[in-house]
Amino acid sequence: MPHPIYVFDAYGTLFDVHSAVARHRDAIGPRADRLSETWRRKQLEYTWVRSLAGIYRDFWSCTRDALDFAAADAGGIPADTRAKLLSAYESLGAYADAQPALAALKAQGARTAILSNGTPHMLNVAVRSASLGEYLDAILSVDGIHIYKTDPRAYRLVTDRFQCGREAVSFQSSNRWDVAGAATFGFRAVWINRSGAPDEYLDAPPALVVSGLADLIAQA
Ligand code: LAC
Repeated sequence: MPHPIYVFDAYGTLFDVHSAVARHRDAIGPRADRLSETWRRKQLEYTWVRSLAGIYRDFWSCTRDALDFAAADAGGIPADTRAKLLSAYESLGAYADAQPALAALKAQGARTAILSNGTPHMLNVAVRSASLGEYLDAILSVDGIHIYKTDPRAYRLVTDRFQCGREAVSFQSSNRWDVAGAATFGFRAVWINRSGAPDEYLDAPPALVVSGLADLIAQA
């Protein structure tokens, strides 16, 4: 196998970030989709702005603050809906192709890991509730180094953990910005383009583009 180590982004790649709002769509009403999109966009913006400013606030705080902004932007949500959304975010649903892909890679002898901006607590709860733990050799969080992806130090957590060269790692993300960071670092960067989004970051292209994790396995 040319890439013995397969590393996955968590949110958007293995776990469906929009499944939290989907579970409580009725309580939110017609603004639900917009709220979910704003929640995700602001959550990411909060990580990048703080990283550039040289400060750190953990991903759970960024997630909570982003929900508060998105809720205000949507005209407000009841306090109990806020609590339910945060609790749903902790145990996000995994995409249907996540477990079969990880299982197939393990069966082929690959080593597997998550590298995520999420806190260890968030990742452990999500992995446990999606029953993915037995298919993962490592769950790596940037929380220990207080810097978010796409800083190269975040991707270096992988080579440090597996004591390997960058060329040994195939890194999968459905976030094009994360693919750009991983490609720049020197991983084989695979874009899981679930939504058929247009390409961007043309100076840091993916090595492979697939529409889901099943296609990744077909080409592994
Ligand atoms: C992750 C996000 C931000 O690192 O997608 O899991």
